[in-house]
Parts: sequence; C-alpha cells; structure tokens
Amino acid sequence: MDYQVIIPAAGSGKRMGAGRNKLFIEVANRPVILHTLDVFAYDPHCKKIILVVQSGDESHFKDILTGHPGHEKIEFVFGGDERQHSVFNGLKAASEQIILVHDGARPFIRQHTISRLVQSAHDNGAAIAAVPVKDTIKRADQNQVVETVDRSGLWQIQTPQAFRLPILMSAHKQAEEQGYLGTDEASLVEKIGLPVMIIESDYDNIKLTTPEDLYFAEAILAKRKM
Ligand code: C5P
Repeated sequence: MDYQVIIPAAGSGKRMGAGRNKLFIEVANRPVILHTLDVFAYDPHCKKIILVVQSGDESHFKDILTGHPGHEKIEFVFGGDERQHSVFNGLKAASEQIILVHDGARPFIRQHTISRLVQSAHDNGAAIAAVPVKDTIKRADQNQVVETVDRSGLWQIQTPQAFRLPILMSAHKQAEEQGYLGTDEASLVEKIGLPVMIIESDYDNIKLTTPEDLYFAEAILAKRKM
C-alpha cells in the first residue's frame, strides 16, 4: 500500500548541544538524516518524502542529499517554531491517502514496522510505533515520590505514526484552532476522539536527543553490519 512520509527535520538540536542541526552529525561516517532516509528511499511504496527543514539549513541538506537514492522523491518544506507546526506545514504538501510522520532524528526504523503501520492506518485510521515500558515508573511531587504507577499497559511512544490523511488534517486543524500543542501527532487525533492503534516496534528505534544517544547509535549500526 502506497504512502507518503513527512520527516520533521527543522529542530535546533538544543539538547544535543552540537551547536548545529543534530541531523548533520555523522554516525558511522554518514549524517544522521541519510540513515533516516535510507529505508524510505528503498521502499517502493513510499511515493514522496516531505522533508521539513529550517530555511537556513536547506542548502546544506541539498548538498548532503546529492546522490542519495531518496533524492528524487524529496520535496522540501519549511518548518515552524514547534515540531507540531513543522509537521502541519509538511501535511499541507501531502496528497497520498496514507501519511506517515517520522522524526528525522530517529534513524533506525525497520521496514517491517513501516509496513504494519501503513496497513493498520488503512484499516483503523491511526497507528503508532511503540515499545512496552521496561522501567519502574513513579509519579513525584518535586523530588518526593507520590506513587508507583502500574506499568502494565504503559507504552513508550515512538515514530513513525501513520494516519489516513483526512484524519491527520482535521486533528491538526482543530489543534490549531484550540491552541493545543501535543508532543506527538497521535495526541491530536486522541483529542478529536478517534482511535489510535499501537504497533509494537523495536527498542533500538531510538531518537537521538542528547549526546550519549550518539554512542548508542554507533553501537546499533555496528551490530547491524555484523
Ligand atoms: O527535538 P526533538 O528531537 O524532539 O525533535 C524531533 C524531530 O522534530 C527532529 O527530527 C527535529 O528536527 C524535528 N523538529 C522540527 N521542527 C521543530 C522542532 C523539531 O521539525 N520546530
């Protein structure tokens, strides 16, 4: 089943502390963004990659994408102040019935998860990648524990998140009207009362957020090459 993917890549990478867009940092001698794009470039069902960037980064993205197999499928769109605004800008350039949103900073997503997400979004309207929570979770007030939360039924949410286009569009429009800012797309769909399905993903589908994530990223790639 065909789909298009929106890749928000317009962040400032403040928590990474690299002083530039973290998607330009090299892991195994290639910029992070190229690792992220690989799977979509080679998937024949991915019909368009909507890459959402800051205007000042556009030419550098174009330079590093030269010769990448996904090059032909990429459409550049400019991002906004918050991730949600960047995704909404990308969504305005989308046309396929199934739309994926996948963080540029999450370079290890596997094809089998993408296929399952696309199918579930087609069948149910919205589907998100996630893994069961492994740690003990507690709620605290300042530094004092209030309670231990029952972790059965708790999931750590990742991207990709997949949607039927009209559902994601109306979720974003309503969020904008109400001034609601979510940390993912699914929360906007939940707000309009529609179901969101979970597709179990892999623990190594990490988002590169803080500097130590780069060590994990090198290790994941080294393991995959073995
Ligand atoms: O900062 P964080 O890692 O949570 O951002 C997730 C993704 O969203 C990154 O790929 C980042 O480039 C993107 N982003 C964006 N526009 C923003 C903020 C973040 O496209 N305003």
